[in-house]
Amino acid sequence: MKYGYFDDTRREYVITTPKTPVKWVNYVGTMRFGGIIDHTGGSLLCKDDPALNRIVKYIPQLPASDFKGETLYLRVHEAGGYRIFSPFFVPTLDPYDRYECHVGLGYNRYVSEFYGIRTEITVFVPPGAMCVVRDVRVTNLRDEKVTIDAIPVVEYTHFDALKQFNNADWVPQTMQSKAYREPSGIVLLAQYAFMNKDRQINYLTSNLPASSFESDRKRFLGENEYGTWKQPLALLAPELGNYEALRGDNIGALLHPLGTLAPGETRRLIAQLGQAEGPEAARAQAATYRDPDAVDRAFEAERAFWDEYLSKLAVETPDPSFDSMVNVHNPRQCYTTKNWSRYLSLYQLGLGERGVGFRDSSQDVLGVIDRVPAEARALMEMLLSVQKRDGSAMHQFNPLSMHANEGDSRERDDRPHYYGDDHLWIVLAVCWYLKETGDLDFLKQEIPFYDKDRHGSPLEKGTVLEHLKRAVAFTKKDTGAHGLPLLGFADWNDTVNLAAGAESMFNANLYGVALRELAELCEVLGDHAAVEAYRGDYAAMKKAFNDAAWDGEWFIRYFDADGTPLGSQKNSEGKIYTNGQSWPVISGFAEPDRGRRALDSVHRLLNTKNGIKLSWPGFNGFDPAKGGVTTYPPGAKENGGIFLHANPWVMIAETLLGNGDRAYEYYHQINPAAKNEKIDEFECEPYAYPQNILGDEHPQFGLARNSWLSGTSAWTYTAATKFILGIAPTYAGLSINPCIPSTWPGYTAKRVFRGAEYIIRVRNPRGVCKGVTALEVDGRRIEGTVVPIAPAGTRVQVEVTLG
Ligand code: GLC
Repeated sequence: MKYGYFDDTRREYVITTPKTPVKWVNYVGTMRFGGIIDHTGGSLLCKDDPALNRIVKYIPQLPASDFKGETLYLRVHEAGGYRIFSPFFVPTLDPYDRYECHVGLGYNRYVSEFYGIRTEITVFVPPGAMCVVRDVRVTNLRDEKVTIDAIPVVEYTHFDALKQFNNADWVPQTMQSKAYREPSGIVLLAQYAFMNKDRQINYLTSNLPASSFESDRKRFLGENEYGTWKQPLALLAPELGNYEALRGDNIGALLHPLGTLAPGETRRLIAQLGQAEGPEAARAQAATYRDPDAVDRAFEAERAFWDEYLSKLAVETPDPSFDSMVNVHNPRQCYTTKNWSRYLSLYQLGLGERGVGFRDSSQDVLGVIDRVPAEARALMEMLLSVQKRDGSAMHQFNPLSMHANEGDSRERDDRPHYYGDDHLWIVLAVCWYLKETGDLDFLKQEIPFYDKDRHGSPLEKGTVLEHLKRAVAFTKKDTGAHGLPLLGFADWNDTVNLAAGAESMFNANLYGVALRELAELCEVLGDHAAVEAYRGDYAAMKKAFNDAAWDGEWFIRYFDADGTPLGSQKNSEGKIYTNGQSWPVISGFAEPDRGRRALDSVHRLLNTKNGIKLSWPGFNGFDPAKGGVTTYPPGAKENGGIFLHANPWVMIAETLLGNGDRAYEYYHQINPAAKNEKIDEFECEPYAYPQNILGDEHPQFGLARNSWLSGTSAWTYTAATKFILGIAPTYAGLSINPCIPSTWPGYTAKRVFRGAEYIIRVRNPRGVCKGVTALEVDGRRIEGTVVPIAPAGTRVQVEVTLG
């Protein structure tokens, strides 16, 4: 517990020293307005799109001690001069008597004590608001009175975040600021790019009069910027320069004389950083959160959102770290990945054309449909609108412009410019959504395909059901020499980029899963011809897969264009791939015997105490014929690293074969909440899954990176809830078919499904992993594992016995 601890009653993680190995961040707001805040007060915010409407300059590559985005200075009048420090520790780095960053649901609360001054700062985005609030309470802990000034500071970026970094003439020529002073003395300091002055302005303001302001970085730091953020020279003078920047590096700084505080006295300053269409709109908007009661109500509303969000499922098992993840941190991360895709994090910087990923967001949906189905549906509608008429999908899109592109595949002329898997994921997303909600009308909604005419109008639209059918139809035709789906530029593994004509067993299995989902759906819809057709396609692909892909102890992962296998005993590097083994079990293509052997090979050759490696052995040198995977040293990322996203698929496969002990072992070994004791090795936030951990071929085995935005979140949540706890929605009801560790005497859960509440108690008197022997619903015995759909608003008691 070196850097902090879990406070489960408050649903917070409390960081108790600022010197964590890397910045530990949290998310506030949504992409409508929001971003990340770090544990030393820095922020990276945008409105609608981090690439095209970025607000704050945050450069993660700078040292941890540097100023990033936003901070607050306090200035204590002392001995005829000033003592200047930041209650966030960064950037002034003063010695502190107390330092806490409470990482909460949608907020951070910082509590610090420096020089007898206690500061408590809550940072959050009021639900639906276009501003972030910094609610600051400064308390005098000294036994004498003290005079204090508070100076919130923000450093702006050009709205086009990439241009900020690659055009150091145009950008600064356009950046301007203007101050608006209210009769009360309150100042609203606006900032904008000249071209946006009448339609998009950022503003910094507060609820208290400001005696002066500064908007130019050079003047704030002083001496042509040989003054520093650690001690801005402007703060040594009684007042700031009141300079309205006409160009240059724009900041916002407002000097608030908080006055003289008696011992024990507290002052409250509410600062806001927001965006509006123009000065009038900004002033109207800013007025709301100058009222402390409105801020309190907004914070309660944020809390209420999370209460509601988390109320859909609550579990109690014998493992508190499992409960902590499943009940709070993992669902929160699922909502975060749903909101941000892979667009904006400390690692994925939201610059240029990255946008929202088709594959990624289709999977993120799986983690939130039980809690925010309407938001899941809205995201699926966006995704379906970038699917093409041929059934394939654009790889990513910008959510502001809705322009889509082919992702990294554009970087190689000698490779296909589509991904073999993207479009298949949306079939899963939609079908899981239907099972959760019963909203079959969604299938009838018409959504345009992405292909457009010269004027930018869609060439064709189709119902959601038609979109799904085209997705599998694309892959049915897009096959290679073994009758297996082509790889395209890549499948789920973005970095294996083989020559055109290569086949992917991952795509084969994902196609199998999609076909099975569609067959099941068509059965519900009563379309028996379609059911037969999809079952036929499934059987054909299953045969092609089994004929070609078995390697003796495991399944092969790819065939190169010339038929050479990858992921085979025959290879010296990349002999075995995790996804090559888990997915045949998930798809049902692997018969139990081969499935068991394949998963045992994973356990033998790929498992480590820090998680399951993606492949082994790593490639040891750049090879353009294989692609991006060979740019990494062995043990890093997709090159034999522990790529966490692939771990829950092995958990799921193990539960399908009935081994709950192993599924749980795999779950527990990557649970970040269980990493708190070896956090100097792990380095990342213990309250969110990272994307990757260095594998045992790397000297820094165990080091995590790329926290927060990862498919690990939705899939670990799925593995834990639907497969280990075994609570899974179906078209007919809620299936309860656990596969738990044999040592668990059982568990209890409360699950909301289609508006009814299911109180589930599972008992495991004989210490098995799987096998429901009795299922009682409100005392009535039921055959099978599916609890029928109860009327909305009712509560159902479910007793499950394993044996
Ligand atoms: C990254 C990408 C994801 C891909 C994975 C494996 O997480 O966002 O789309 O599947 O890497 O390459």
